[in-house]
Amino acid sequence: MISVRADAGRILIGKQLLPQTGKRCQALRLFGQCAIVSDTNVARQYADILKQSLISTGFRPTVITIPAGEKSKTLEQAGAICDRMIAAGLDRQSFVIGLGGGMVGDISGFVAAIYHRGIPHVQIPTTLLGMVDSSIGGKTGVNTHDGKNLIGSVHHPLLVIDDLDVLKTLPPREFNQGFAEIIKHAVIADAKMFRTLQSWGARSPRRPLALQALIKRNIEIKSMIVARDERDRTGERALLNFGHTVGHAIERAGDYRKFLHGEALSLGIVAACGISIRRAGLAPDQRDAIVDLLRQFELPTTLPKNFPREKVFDALKFDKKFEGGKVRFVVSPRIGAAYLTNDVTLDDIREAVEAL
Ligand SMILES: NC(=O)c1ccc[n+]([C@@H]2O[C@H](COP(=O)([O-])OP(=O)(O)OC[C@H]3O[C@@H](n4cnc5c(N)ncnc54)[C@H](O)[C@@H]3O)[C@@H](O)[C@H]2O)c1
Ligand SMILES: [Zn+2]
Repeated sequence: MISVRADAGRILIGKQLLPQTGKRCQALRLFGQCAIVSDTNVARQYADILKQSLISTGFRPTVITIPAGEKSKTLEQAGAICDRMIAAGLDRQSFVIGLGGGMVGDISGFVAAIYHRGIPHVQIPTTLLGMVDSSIGGKTGVNTHDGKNLIGSVHHPLLVIDDLDVLKTLPPREFNQGFAEIIKHAVIADAKMFRTLQSWGARSPRRPLALQALIKRNIEIKSMIVARDERDRTGERALLNFGHTVGHAIERAGDYRKFLHGEALSLGIVAACGISIRRAGLAPDQRDAIVDLLRQFELPTTLPKNFPREKVFDALKFDKKFEGGKVRFVVSPRIGAAYLTNDVTLDDIREAVEAL
């Protein structure tokens, strides 16, 4: 097992960690009652192991299961979780454990942020995306009818437990989409990690030792960028949005059904590379290497011929303010570096999407 200090808390990465949760919580002087918030898919597999670990170390857990899927990430659902916690007698001394992917991480963190004006949050991410992205940086929240993550709070987890064993049951598409965020991190900040991923080739990316080191490195990259700009003020944190402007628009154009977030991001990265060639001097062979790496993890790099591209532009305009035809956009001049620029035009983006 390895342990990393990040954000305001500690992150443990290794095998067989879920059954040790009770012991780890004790070590942080947590005690008494807690809520285990999970979704239907994850609870079925892992809630009992977690509950037993907590009971055997003297905690009194209440399991609260919500339906799997992004549709559950609402204010109503957060309210219902709070009601269940009140009914079970949880108080200011209690804490919340989020057991699941980014959806559960976000809503359980939000509940922890508002319950009794804030109680400790422990995250047990069960998706690769959860481990390398959503559990880092402290952003918690829920969606509304008008958009994603419009209501929320910054509330760092006290402890994050990344148990590699839980990834065994993750469906391949869900597993691969985590690599879109990992490749994004490599492109914006770490050329060495980029080469390491290339060398993985056809070897199984599920090898625990390789995954452990990779997850650690991604946590370091994201938390370093977040630490420089926790509240999104200086533009540093915006680098993490590389590929996301077009990615989000594609997600929305596909009604959030056609592509998973990481798949839409993969396409957004390809578009951002095209724009980077034109506006930041990215070498075309570096763009090709990025596209090859995305493909290596079975991520899409072209849009289906009949995909409604005009819906992508509509979504872009909905999402971004184009002041004088320009938008703030993250570009990469070479693998391992990125910066924010105001030079990108709507036409640049249109061209890049048409080329997909
Ligand atoms: N807070 C942040 O900084 C941040 C960053 C990125 C994404 N997010 C949020 O994260 C969410 C996406 O996260 P996600 O991709 O993990 O989605 P998710 O939580 O919806 O999980 C994806 C699917 O996998 C299932 N699943 C999870 N773990 C499993 C396991 N070990 N075995 C079998 N099935 C499993 C889930 O039930 C679900 O059906 C979005 O809500 C997004 O807004 C937040
Ligand atoms: Zn993302």
